[in-house]
Amino acid sequence: MKFFLDTANIDEIKRVNELGLVDGITTNPSIIAKEGRNFKEVIQEICGIIDGPVSAEVVGLETDEMLAEARDIAKWAPNVIVKIPMTENGLRAVNILSKEGIKTNVTLVFSVAQGLMAAKAGASYISPFVGRVDDIGTEGMTLVRNLKRVLEEYQYETEIITASVRTITHLQDAAVAGADIATIPGSLFPKLWSHPLTDIGIEQFLADWEKVPK
Ligand code: G3P
Repeated sequence: MKFFLDTANIDEIKRVNELGLVDGITTNPSIIAKEGRNFKEVIQEICGIIDGPVSAEVVGLETDEMLAEARDIAKWAPNVIVKIPMTENGLRAVNILSKEGIKTNVTLVFSVAQGLMAAKAGASYISPFVGRVDDIGTEGMTLVRNLKRVLEEYQYETEIITASVRTITHLQDAAVAGADIATIPGSLFPKLWSHPLTDIGIEQFLADWEKVPK
């Protein structure tokens, strides 16, 4: 499974990238707003650090607006992916963009039907939001498992980005479900490589090492 970072924070990206763990980046308007920086400038800076796909989202809701934004964003860097919301207008835009060779990530996917529509329209990626499905009392990971089965069954090349990942369990379950990618918030990443027993073990070893005659 590939790991994307769900952040536009340059320090977080550099820290995790130094460990060789970052295959790509996803952003959304809320994530961009947190940085208080110009959208294009921050996306181009990220694209200069990360070789893999970097998602940047349109904000227009009409197909024409989405197309204009997408065609502009696509010129910002060779590895930029245009994120489009899962609406009828969005699907129309995805269909046109895929024929122009512009890669898209269809976001805010909450059902198998939506994922299937996006794949059929030509999306390169779809983003089911597992945490937000959990929030309304349904199991989000079931959506990822079902989407994986359906896309494999019908041989779509569309990749599943497990998004709205909030916990270590989400990440582990996404891997077991066979998701192509999990996009992970910067705040969750350190929790993935840390374990209290590792810290206790190191402390014990160092205490015992003091007893070794020097
Ligand atoms: O990848 C989508 C993500 O940014 C949304 O996460 O936690 O706001 O549901 P969350």
